[in-house]
Amino acid sequence: MQIVSVINQKGGVGKTTTCANVGAALARSGHRVLLFDLDPQAHLSISFDRLPEPGEPSVYTLLGAGHRLEEVVQTTSVPGLTIAPTNLDLTGAETEFAAEIGRETLLRDALEGYARRIPEPPEVVLFDCPPSLGLLSLNALVASRHVVIPLQAEFFALQGMAQLLDVIERVKRRLNPGLDLLGIVVGMFQKQRNLSREVLQELHRHFGPLLFPTLVRMNVRLAEAPSHGLTIFDYAPESGGAADFAAVAEEMARRLGLRPEQAEPERSPEPPAEEPAAEPTAAAEATPSPESAPLRELEAG
Ligand SMILES: Nc1ncnc2c1ncn2[C@@H]1O[C@H](COP(=O)(O)OP(=O)(O)OP(=O)(O)O)[C@@H](O)[C@H]1O
Ligand SMILES: [Mg+2]
Repeated sequence: MQIVSVINQKGGVGKTTTCANVGAALARSGHRVLLFDLDPQAHLSISFDRLPEPGEPSVYTLLGAGHRLEEVVQTTSVPGLTIAPTNLDLTGAETEFAAEIGRETLLRDALEGYARRIPEPPEVVLFDCPPSLGLLSLNALVASRHVVIPLQAEFFALQGMAQLLDVIERVKRRLNPGLDLLGIVVGMFQKQRNLSREVLQELHRHFGPLLFPTLVRMNVRLAEAPSHGLTIFDYAPESGGAADFAAVAEEMARRLGLRPEQAEPERSPEPPAEEPAAEPTAAAEATPSPESAPLRELEAG
């Protein structure tokens, strides 16, 4: 199992959109994928039309009421893609489980048991983290091998980044030595905006090859798809959003070392309608700097 935390304590940067569509793209390529909704807002669960009723098996009852993960997991409309859904019940979890012994490893333990018990465990698990660095995010980081950080190329993109990287470092030191930063996905990119281009250069200076080469463009279809209970590949397969997330998923599969795709996804040959293609090489044009740039600089800069 390749377990990935999709995390950024900043709200609205594209965590849920990335989980839903990268998960769908990987599943369409023949991989077994499990999405984990760790956000009490339950946007991921809602966007797959899998919102549990209060008290029904959910991530909350998994953590608190002793439900097994196999009782919680549901299929989605996408073959090969499953989801551990959540609902508002999870809102109190951070404080409720705070005093529990082993509170940081609840998710890791649940996943390990699940993988042992079921015949075909998922190959990829994606945690859709809430916009905070509390106990739920900590559980995700402890259970994960990899971290993916979605970012928006906005003026405040780097704000909070030093804190996030510091938390990742501390988890690594104390609880999960194998944790690594798989990459940074820039989303809602608007090529026409000078500011976006400038921020992108800045991001590249700090993170170099950690940036995914494909920038996910601003594409209204990506915002519309969840309200139809669909991923971008079923809602608007010809859109730029579908093309971008297919490419991000492909890069993620490569970085995760997933075996070559079993089935070819149905790719859209059409150019995107809404925005001219963001050059995937835009980041590569900026001068790269050593990956070891001091983390503290990020916030100061
Ligand atoms: N590339 C894009 N183009 C247009 N809209 C987008 C794009 N990516 C995400 N959105 C929209 O932006 C909003 C925020 O995205 P999303 O919910 O994925 O962020 P998030 O980080 O999960 O937010 P939260 O922190 O609240 O969980 C959503 O309405 C989503 O549909
Ligand atoms: Mg979200």
